[in-house]
Amino acid sequence: MNHSLAPAASAALIRKEVAGLPRYDPGADPDVVAALSGTHRVIKLSNNESPFAASPAVAEAVRQGLAEGVSRYPDPTGRRLTDAIGKSLGVPAGRLVLGNGSENILELLCQAVLDPGDLVVTQAPGFSLHEIFPRVMGAQVEKVPVTAGFAFDAEAWREALAAGPKLVFLANPCNPTGAVLSSGQLEQVIAATPPSALLVLDEAYGEFARPDPEYPDGLEALRGRDRPWMVLRTFSKAYGLAGVRVGYGIASDSALVQALDRVRTPYNVNQPAQDAAIAALGDGAHLANTVRRTAAEIARVTDRLRRAGLRVVPSSANFLFIDTGCRSDRVAQELHRAGIIVKAWREPGYENHIRASLSTPEDNDVFVRCLTEICAKDNQ
Ligand SMILES: Cc1ncc(COP(=O)(O)O)c(C=O)c1O
Repeated sequence: MNHSLAPAASAALIRKEVAGLPRYDPGADPDVVAALSGTHRVIKLSNNESPFAASPAVAEAVRQGLAEGVSRYPDPTGRRLTDAIGKSLGVPAGRLVLGNGSENILELLCQAVLDPGDLVVTQAPGFSLHEIFPRVMGAQVEKVPVTAGFAFDAEAWREALAAGPKLVFLANPCNPTGAVLSSGQLEQVIAATPPSALLVLDEAYGEFARPDPEYPDGLEALRGRDRPWMVLRTFSKAYGLAGVRVGYGIASDSALVQALDRVRTPYNVNQPAQDAAIAALGDGAHLANTVRRTAAEIARVTDRLRRAGLRVVPSSANFLFIDTGCRSDRVAQELHRAGIIVKAWREPGYENHIRASLSTPEDNDVFVRCLTEICAKDNQ
């Protein structure tokens, strides 16, 4: 059999929208970095995960669920979890959608809403899946840049929204900068978004920002608005459940949820994930503790990096966007040699920046020391 024809034949099958897509960059492989650095304890700061264990109630709930067996499919409606979320937010369960991570819901929204050629507006720098999923559907993506000082550019947003997008993805706080939109700025976006468009507020890092008095609760801002909207949240970040994959969306109306139900795979959230999320939601004290410890580290590390002369965007999330003053891919490679993984930013205009999630105080101290040494050397 001639195998050499296969790659060309496969390539010819791929839709042009898919062939031209940028790849999602999950960051360096910890095993590769361990081998490169000769350390067994890699410090992984690349994916905005929580360095703290989830609530002990999570392990107990998952253990119990597993003891009952995994031979049955999970609940396709996620009823116990949507009931618990609905109760905690004062939202009917029929206006909630669950996802295999909130990224799954981003994908479902694009599949349900977008036709080829539709316009999607999002921000730059931004979360790559806000661009990749719309492009899979053949949509055009307009990325609105922040100002030179990383602030929300109201005029640029107004202009982009006036072009008539069908879908708007806006992360608050912003990934990768960690900056938040104030209530007034959010109101401007809501007012400028065409009433026929779907406005999606991605609050993946919302729990970290909630103590900030400037930070608007997207659900409160959108609740009761007579327009299509969705607020996305996740158990991956502040709740520390990135490994089990569960996120949720609160929708303006049940018709939107029903559309996503038609698109999604029926069992998209596995049972251990549903059990884990219910347990995590029930432990508010643990969440508050994670948020408090994270904020303390954000403040401390920001201060240390600034004292070392680095520019750091003020962050209300669990990560920092840092101007290294030189090519960030080189900085990232040098950090790999020290056993530390960060994201070197690749969006045009930000190639000198890295995004680093914060970890425990001990790991953060190692990161600050290595980064400042590398930057001092490279910027000489
Ligand atoms: C802004 C934003 N939205 C959504 C997600 C997806 O998170 P998950 O699928 O783990 O819920 C992420 C993950 O990093 C993110 O940064």
